Amino acid sequence: MKPETLAIHSGNLYESSTKDVTPPINLSTTFFRDEDGGYSGGHMYSRVSNPNRSALEQVLTDLEKGADACAFSSGNTAGMSLFQALKPGSHIIAPDDMYWGFKKQLQSIFADTLTIDFIDLTDIANISAYIRENTVMIWVETPSNPLLKITDLPAIAAITKKHNLILACDSTFASPCLQNPIALGADIVMHSSTKYIGGHSDVLGGALITAEKTPFWEKIRNIQQIGGAVPSPFDCFLLLRSIKTLPYRMRGHCENGMALALYLEQHPKIEGVFYPGLPGHPQYEIARQQMSGFGGMLSILVRGGADEARKVVNKVKLFAQATSLGGVESLIEHRASVEGPDTKTPQNLIRVSVGLEHIDDLIADFDQALA
Ligand SMILES: Cc1ncc(COP(=O)(O)O)c(C=O)c1O
Repeated sequence: MKPETLAIHSGNLYESSTKDVTPPINLSTTFFRDEDGGYSGGHMYSRVSNPNRSALEQVLTDLEKGADACAFSSGNTAGMSLFQALKPGSHIIAPDDMYWGFKKQLQSIFADTLTIDFIDLTDIANISAYIRENTVMIWVETPSNPLLKITDLPAIAAITKKHNLILACDSTFASPCLQNPIALGADIVMHSSTKYIGGHSDVLGGALITAEKTPFWEKIRNIQQIGGAVPSPFDCFLLLRSIKTLPYRMRGHCENGMALALYLEQHPKIEGVFYPGLPGHPQYEIARQQMSGFGGMLSILVRGGADEARKVVNKVKLFAQATSLGGVESLIEHRASVEGPDTKTPQNLIRVSVGLEHIDDLIADFDQALA
């Protein structure tokens, strides 16, 4: 089935005695045991599994064309669970432009257990030089946050397969509707479902989806169930509700993202636009091949430095000055000041999450803010 159909029908596993069309929220933390000691209802204790979470994991598995999914209470815990599953002493390769929260996790929480090289993964020819005897994984983020770099997933997959490494991909900016990393050779896909999957800035969540149920995946499932950083039944209900409109929301984000990028690209006060849908983007051809749309995230460089960038952020009216992304409402932020003093993000960079308002209103808003 196509994503639009899967988004609505996959995960509707629930058979209710009251014949609900929309699955109810199962708040029970514990489930009846049978006389023979089994759990014929399929669930034992809500940290281990819950009907709402199973439904969410099913639809995410189907949308990402994977074999299984683990839902977590945030994107950060999804990534952290994967890093925890790696053997201490392992070496991993990660992108130089990467969601700063994961970079921070790796450099602080995992500083004693993992060694990491942060490199430019768009330079494919350079990657093999970093592979060591104890390298176990290449972590990719495409499109990347905040520079919208695109990594060639099939090219990296050829390297990870040759060296028997795990290829994991943070696909948050693409959502499961614009790119399916497993179909392009990845072993594990990661999403912050707080973003496009949730889509309404009202629920935190994260997920990992696997291409195969390997022993390594079982380790991740154990971390989820024993560690317990799981989304609540209500969070799962909200995410399932949001996923039903995800394919259509993504079309709107792509349409608005492209139109705003084209407008900003020709504006004299804008020094540069980072958007993979612009033919001038260095990895435009790769984006065209591995994505079905370019998304609603873009970053811009404002002429005149940090002060001018901050003025724009303060002058727009429809774009809420707030962190995060992927919601129906447009958001804007001066990224360097969010990331802190050790950031490498240019000081005149503004990151924009283009929402689903009418594009004419969004462009008119930027027009007055840049005037
Ligand atoms: C690309 C990317 N990955 C992961 C995360 C972390 O997700 P969460 O905030 O749900 O923990 C974010 C959050 O901004 C993100 O932008």
